[in-house]
Amino acid sequence: MSGDLAVRGLTVRYSGRTVVDKVNLDVAEGRVLGLVGESGSGKSTIARAVLGLAPVHTGTITVGGTELRRLNARERARRVQMVFQDPFGSLNPRMSVGSIVGEGLEARAALRPAERGAEVTRLLELVSLSPEMEQRLPRRLSGGQRQRVAIARALAARPAVLIADEITSALDVSVQAQVLNVLRGVLASERLSMLFISHNLAVVRYISDDIAVMRDGVIVETGPADEVLAAPKHEYTRELLRAVPQLHAGAAAPDRSRTATRLNSTPDELGIHKHR
Ligand SMILES: Nc1ncnc2c1ncn2[C@@H]1O[C@H](COP(=O)(O)OP(=O)(O)OP(=O)(O)O)[C@@H](O)[C@H]1O
Ligand SMILES: [Mg+2]
Repeated sequence: MSGDLAVRGLTVRYSGRTVVDKVNLDVAEGRVLGLVGESGSGKSTIARAVLGLAPVHTGTITVGGTELRRLNARERARRVQMVFQDPFGSLNPRMSVGSIVGEGLEARAALRPAERGAEVTRLLELVSLSPEMEQRLPRRLSGGQRQRVAIARALAARPAVLIADEITSALDVSVQAQVLNVLRGVLASERLSMLFISHNLAVVRYISDDIAVMRDGVIVETGPADEVLAAPKHEYTRELLRAVPQLHAGAAAPDRSRTATRLNSTPDELGIHKHR
């Protein structure tokens, strides 16, 4: 299934108030678009619109040319999956890790039981969790491990597009780096496009090929990550950049190429700081 996500002229209104205004976004197959912007700018609303959970006033959202609103929930789930911010609330506390990830396989064509087991093991391995974790309940996992389970569950559906909405914001700084590195490993091995949402430009910069900057419901700047970071055109982007000290201390931009995943990057190397 082709992975291009295209958002065209998307306007979302809540009770007559426009919170997303004529937004255009493209996430090309195999690429990561980082969506950055201050709280309330409309980032999550775009994610919810893609998932069919926000009141779209006008505009279209397609994956591989297919309009998502024409699809039923299952067909949509095979194209788009999401990982949410809260690793504590997003997993069913009564289900084992293995069954949580296994449930993600439901969106796919039926697998034989033996294939299911092997696929769950593969997915856990992909997010650096050992097979022994399959029996565990979420409460016995750390926040970072829970987020990795959520990533594995999302990947189980083999979606064309993965949306990650502030998936590291609730985690300690050192754990943020771990989760981002896991995600980079995933991007290197799975065929996937990703919309990566964060208010933190340092985090976005580490993972994205392209960056879109959002403010008050509008995309104010978009382009290849290197260009947006090296020569921001919009004053608001410059403001965001000033909030990331490492970029001004002359730190080398991390190599974003998929083959060069540095699994041992530290938060400092990533320029990540604890949020508030
Ligand atoms: N269900 C809703 N009903 C009414 N207004 C909403 C609803 N959901 C979001 N909004 C409003 O839409 C605007 C954009 O919210 P959104 O959650 O998309 O921002 P965000 O960029 O994701 O912010 P944050 O960084 O805090 O997550 C905000 O003003 C918010 O109050
Ligand atoms: Mg949000």
